[in-house]
Amino acid sequence: MIRITEVTKAYASSRGLVPVVDGVSLSLDAGRSLALMGRSGSGKTTLLYLIGGLERPDSGQIFCLEQPLHSLTGNSLARFLRKNVGFLFQFGNLLSYLTVAENVAFPLRLNNVPAAQRDRRVQELLEKIGLAPAAHALPRELSGGEIQRVAFARAVAHRPGILLADEPTSSLDSASAYNLMDLMFRVGRDEGRTTLVATHDPAVTALADRTVRLEDGKIAHATDADSTDRSAGQES
Ligand SMILES: Nc1ncnc2c1ncn2[C@@H]1O[C@H](COP(=O)(O)OP(=O)(O)OP(=O)(O)O)[C@@H](O)[C@H]1O
Ligand SMILES: [Mg+2]
Repeated sequence: MIRITEVTKAYASSRGLVPVVDGVSLSLDAGRSLALMGRSGSGKTTLLYLIGGLERPDSGQIFCLEQPLHSLTGNSLARFLRKNVGFLFQFGNLLSYLTVAENVAFPLRLNNVPAAQRDRRVQELLEKIGLAPAAHALPRELSGGEIQRVAFARAVAHRPGILLADEPTSSLDSASAYNLMDLMFRVGRDEGRTTLVATHDPAVTALADRTVRLEDGKIAHATDADSTDRSAGQES
Protein backbone atom coordinates (compact mmCIF):
# COMPACT_ATOMS: atom_id res chain seq x y z
CA MET A 1 0.00 0.00 0.00
CA ILE A 2 1.24 3.47 -0.90
CA ARG A 3 -0.51 6.64 0.22
CA ILE A 4 0.94 10.09 -0.40
CA THR A 5 -0.73 13.39 0.36
CA GLU A 6 0.13 16.86 -0.91
CA VAL A 7 3.75 15.96 -1.54
CA THR A 8 5.97 18.79 -2.73
CA LYS A 9 9.62 18.86 -3.75
CA ALA A 10 11.48 21.82 -5.24
CA TYR A 11 15.04 22.14 -6.53
CA ALA A 12 17.10 25.32 -6.66
CA SER A 13 17.81 26.53 -10.18
CA SER A 14 19.00 29.77 -11.79
CA ARG A 15 15.35 30.85 -11.80
CA GLY A 16 15.03 30.24 -8.07
CA LEU A 17 13.22 27.34 -6.43
CA VAL A 18 11.42 25.29 -9.07
CA PRO A 19 8.75 22.86 -7.88
CA VAL A 20 9.39 19.47 -9.48
CA VAL A 21 6.68 17.61 -7.59
CA ASP A 22 3.89 20.01 -6.78
CA GLY A 23 1.21 18.92 -4.33
CA VAL A 24 0.75 15.34 -5.54
CA SER A 25 -1.72 13.06 -3.74
CA LEU A 26 -2.06 9.44 -4.74
CA SER A 27 -2.94 6.11 -3.21
CA LEU A 28 -2.47 2.60 -4.44
CA ASP A 29 -3.67 -0.54 -2.65
CA ALA A 30 -1.55 -3.62 -1.99
CA GLY A 31 -1.21 -5.82 -5.06
CA ARG A 32 -2.11 -3.04 -7.51
CA SER A 33 0.02 -1.59 -10.28
CA LEU A 34 0.30 1.96 -11.55
CA ALA A 35 2.00 3.37 -14.65
CA LEU A 36 3.38 6.87 -14.21
CA MET A 37 3.45 8.72 -17.54
CA GLY A 38 4.51 12.23 -18.49
CA ARG A 39 6.97 14.17 -20.62
CA SER A 40 10.66 14.25 -19.85
CA GLY A 41 11.16 16.55 -16.86
CA SER A 42 7.58 16.18 -15.58
CA GLY A 43 8.81 14.75 -12.27
CA LYS A 44 8.36 10.96 -12.65
CA THR A 45 11.79 9.93 -11.36
CA THR A 46 11.63 12.48 -8.55
CA LEU A 47 8.24 11.13 -7.44
CA LEU A 48 9.57 7.53 -7.47
CA TYR A 49 12.60 8.59 -5.43
CA LEU A 50 10.36 10.36 -2.91
CA ILE A 51 8.17 7.29 -2.54
CA GLY A 52 11.26 5.06 -2.29
CA GLY A 53 12.82 7.24 0.41
CA LEU A 54 15.83 8.21 -1.77
CA GLU A 55 14.69 11.84 -1.64
CA ARG A 56 12.86 13.66 1.14
CA PRO A 57 9.77 15.77 0.45
CA ASP A 58 9.77 19.48 1.33
CA SER A 59 6.22 19.01 2.58
CA GLY A 60 3.47 16.41 2.55
CA GLN A 61 3.18 12.86 3.78
CA ILE A 62 4.33 9.56 2.32
CA PHE A 63 3.02 6.33 3.81
CA CYS A 64 4.42 3.05 2.51
CA LEU A 65 2.96 -0.12 4.04
CA GLU A 66 1.52 2.07 6.83
CA GLN A 67 4.97 3.48 7.70
CA PRO A 68 5.42 7.29 7.60
CA LEU A 69 8.50 7.47 5.34
CA HIS A 70 8.59 11.26 5.56
CA SER A 71 9.46 11.02 9.25
CA LEU A 72 11.83 8.01 9.27
CA THR A 73 15.55 8.80 9.28
CA GLY A 74 18.95 7.14 9.34
CA ASN A 75 19.00 3.48 10.33
CA SER A 76 15.25 3.05 10.64
CA LEU A 77 14.76 4.39 7.10
CA ALA A 78 17.57 2.18 5.75
CA ARG A 79 16.17 -0.87 7.52
CA PHE A 80 12.67 -0.23 6.21
CA LEU A 81 13.86 0.23 2.61
CA ARG A 82 16.16 -2.80 2.65
CA LYS A 83 13.28 -5.01 3.72
CA ASN A 84 10.27 -3.53 1.97
CA VAL A 85 11.23 -1.73 -1.23
CA GLY A 86 12.70 -3.01 -4.49
CA PHE A 87 14.11 -0.78 -7.26
CA LEU A 88 14.39 -1.55 -10.95
CA PHE A 89 16.22 0.89 -13.24
CA GLN A 90 16.52 1.50 -16.97
CA PHE A 91 19.77 -0.46 -17.36
CA GLY A 92 19.55 -3.37 -14.89
CA ASN A 93 22.72 -2.31 -13.02
CA LEU A 94 23.66 -5.94 -12.38
CA LEU A 95 26.90 -6.57 -10.53
CA SER A 96 29.16 -7.61 -13.41
CA TYR A 97 31.42 -9.91 -11.38
CA LEU A 98 28.55 -11.90 -9.88
CA THR A 99 26.62 -14.66 -11.66
CA VAL A 100 22.93 -14.42 -12.46
CA ALA A 101 22.04 -16.49 -9.37
CA GLU A 102 24.37 -14.44 -7.14
CA ASN A 103 22.86 -11.19 -8.40
CA VAL A 104 19.35 -12.42 -7.58
CA ALA A 105 20.52 -13.66 -4.15
CA PHE A 106 22.08 -10.28 -3.27
CA PRO A 107 19.13 -8.66 -1.41
CA LEU A 108 18.53 -11.96 0.40
CA ARG A 109 22.09 -11.83 1.72
CA LEU A 110 21.60 -8.21 2.81
CA ASN A 111 18.50 -9.32 4.70
CA ASN A 112 20.30 -12.31 6.30
CA VAL A 113 17.97 -14.89 4.78
CA PRO A 114 19.23 -18.43 5.63
CA ALA A 115 21.06 -20.18 2.78
CA ALA A 116 18.52 -22.94 2.10
CA GLN A 117 15.63 -20.49 1.94
CA ARG A 118 17.74 -18.16 -0.22
CA ASP A 119 18.57 -20.91 -2.71
CA ARG A 120 14.91 -21.92 -2.97
CA ARG A 121 13.79 -18.35 -3.67
CA VAL A 122 16.55 -17.81 -6.27
CA GLN A 123 15.63 -21.05 -8.05
CA GLU A 124 11.93 -20.16 -8.00
CA LEU A 125 12.60 -16.74 -9.52
CA LEU A 126 15.02 -18.02 -12.16
CA GLU A 127 12.32 -20.44 -13.30
CA LYS A 128 9.71 -17.66 -13.37
CA ILE A 129 11.93 -15.45 -15.55
CA GLY A 130 12.88 -18.41 -17.77
CA LEU A 131 16.58 -18.23 -16.96
CA ALA A 132 17.20 -21.26 -14.75
CA PRO A 133 19.72 -22.63 -17.29
CA ALA A 134 21.66 -19.35 -17.09
CA ALA A 135 22.06 -19.43 -13.28
CA HIS A 136 25.85 -19.52 -13.49
CA ALA A 137 26.25 -17.12 -16.42
CA LEU A 138 27.79 -13.68 -15.96
CA PRO A 139 25.81 -10.58 -16.95
CA ARG A 140 28.02 -9.96 -20.02
CA GLU A 141 26.75 -13.22 -21.51
CA LEU A 142 23.11 -12.02 -21.42
CA SER A 143 20.94 -10.05 -23.85
CA GLY A 144 19.41 -6.72 -22.81
CA GLY A 145 16.02 -8.33 -22.20
CA GLU A 146 17.58 -11.09 -20.10
CA ILE A 147 19.52 -8.52 -18.04
CA GLN A 148 16.30 -6.67 -17.24
CA ARG A 149 14.57 -9.92 -16.24
CA VAL A 150 17.45 -10.74 -13.85
CA ALA A 151 17.35 -7.17 -12.51
CA PHE A 152 13.63 -7.61 -11.92
CA ALA A 153 14.19 -10.92 -10.10
CA ARG A 154 16.82 -9.24 -7.93
CA ALA A 155 14.52 -6.30 -7.19
CA VAL A 156 11.81 -8.62 -5.82
CA ALA A 157 13.92 -11.47 -4.41
CA HIS A 158 13.27 -10.44 -0.80
CA ARG A 159 9.51 -10.11 -1.52
CA PRO A 160 9.33 -6.36 -0.94
CA GLY A 161 5.81 -5.00 -0.51
CA ILE A 162 6.66 -2.22 -2.96
CA LEU A 163 8.44 -2.28 -6.32
CA LEU A 164 9.51 0.99 -7.93
CA ALA A 165 10.64 0.80 -11.56
CA ASP A 166 12.06 3.73 -13.54
CA GLU A 167 11.65 3.23 -17.30
CA PRO A 168 12.62 -0.45 -17.09
CA THR A 169 11.69 -1.17 -20.73
CA SER A 170 13.18 1.87 -22.45
CA SER A 171 16.26 -0.02 -23.69
CA LEU A 172 14.28 -3.06 -24.89
CA ASP A 173 12.56 -4.06 -28.14
CA SER A 174 8.79 -4.30 -27.91
CA ALA A 175 8.64 -8.09 -27.48
CA SER A 176 11.17 -8.07 -24.61
CA ALA A 177 9.41 -5.07 -23.09
CA TYR A 178 6.05 -6.83 -23.13
CA ASN A 179 7.59 -9.98 -21.69
CA LEU A 180 9.19 -8.07 -18.80
CA MET A 181 6.07 -6.09 -17.94
CA ASP A 182 3.79 -9.11 -18.14
CA LEU A 183 6.15 -10.93 -15.76
CA MET A 184 6.47 -7.97 -13.42
CA PHE A 185 2.74 -7.38 -13.07
CA ARG A 186 1.86 -11.10 -12.87
CA VAL A 187 4.45 -11.92 -10.19
CA GLY A 188 3.54 -8.68 -8.40
CA ARG A 189 -0.14 -9.66 -8.25
CA ASP A 190 0.69 -13.21 -7.09
CA GLU A 191 2.90 -11.89 -4.29
CA GLY A 192 0.62 -8.99 -3.31
CA ARG A 193 3.13 -6.32 -4.29
CA THR A 194 2.30 -2.69 -5.01
CA THR A 195 4.09 -1.79 -8.25
CA LEU A 196 4.81 1.68 -9.61
CA VAL A 197 6.42 2.09 -13.03
CA ALA A 198 7.58 5.35 -14.61
CA THR A 199 7.37 4.87 -18.35
CA HIS A 200 6.89 6.33 -21.82
CA ASP A 201 5.85 2.92 -23.15
CA PRO A 202 2.16 2.46 -24.09
CA ALA A 203 2.59 -1.32 -23.70
CA VAL A 204 3.29 -0.76 -20.00
CA THR A 205 0.23 1.40 -19.48
CA ALA A 206 -1.93 -1.18 -21.23
CA LEU A 207 -0.87 -3.83 -18.69
CA ALA A 208 -0.98 -1.71 -15.52
CA ASP A 209 -4.13 -1.48 -13.39
CA ARG A 210 -4.01 2.32 -13.43
CA THR A 211 -2.30 5.15 -15.26
CA VAL A 212 -1.44 8.57 -13.91
CA ARG A 213 -0.05 11.36 -16.07
CA LEU A 214 2.22 14.01 -14.56
CA GLU A 215 2.52 17.49 -16.05
CA ASP A 216 4.92 19.96 -14.46
CA GLY A 217 4.91 17.99 -11.23
CA LYS A 218 1.12 17.80 -10.94
CA ILE A 219 -1.29 14.98 -11.69
CA ALA A 220 -2.93 15.91 -14.98
CA HIS A 221 -4.88 12.77 -15.72
CA ALA A 222 -5.63 9.46 -14.03
CA THR A 223 -7.42 6.29 -15.01
CA ASP A 224 -8.54 3.46 -12.83
CA ALA A 225 -9.21 -0.09 -13.97
CA ASP A 226 -12.12 -0.25 -11.54
CA SER A 227 -13.84 2.77 -13.02
CA THR A 228 -16.20 2.58 -15.96
CA ASP A 229 -14.46 5.27 -18.01
CA ARG A 230 -11.61 2.94 -18.89
CA SER A 231 -12.09 1.80 -22.48
CA ALA A 232 -9.61 -1.08 -22.60
CA GLY A 233 -10.81 -2.87 -19.47
CA GLN A 234 -9.03 -6.19 -19.07
CA GLU A 235 -10.21 -7.40 -15.69
CA SER A 236 -12.46 -10.42 -15.72
N1 LIG B 1 18.82 16.65 -7.91
C1 LIG B 1 18.28 17.60 -8.70
N2 LIG B 1 18.69 18.90 -8.63
C2 LIG B 1 18.13 19.84 -9.38
N3 LIG B 1 17.15 19.62 -10.28
C3 LIG B 1 16.70 18.37 -10.41
C4 LIG B 1 17.23 17.29 -9.63
N4 LIG B 1 16.58 16.16 -9.98
C5 LIG B 1 15.70 16.50 -10.93
N5 LIG B 1 15.76 17.83 -11.19
C6 LIG B 1 14.90 18.55 -12.15
O1 LIG B 1 13.55 18.18 -11.87
C7 LIG B 1 12.80 18.05 -13.06
C8 LIG B 1 12.12 16.70 -13.09
O2 LIG B 1 13.09 15.67 -13.20
P1 LIG B 1 12.71 14.13 -13.23
O3 LIG B 1 14.00 13.42 -13.40
O4 LIG B 1 11.88 13.79 -12.06
O5 LIG B 1 11.82 14.04 -14.56
P2 LIG B 1 11.31 12.74 -15.35
O6 LIG B 1 9.86 12.92 -15.53
O7 LIG B 1 11.78 11.51 -14.68
O8 LIG B 1 12.03 12.90 -16.76
P3 LIG B 1 12.58 11.75 -17.78
O9 LIG B 1 11.37 11.25 -18.52
O10 LIG B 1 13.50 12.52 -18.67
O11 LIG B 1 13.27 10.72 -16.97
C9 LIG B 1 13.77 18.29 -14.20
O12 LIG B 1 13.59 19.60 -14.66
C10 LIG B 1 15.13 18.11 -13.57
O13 LIG B 1 16.08 18.92 -14.20
MG1 LIG C 1 13.05 9.99 -15.21
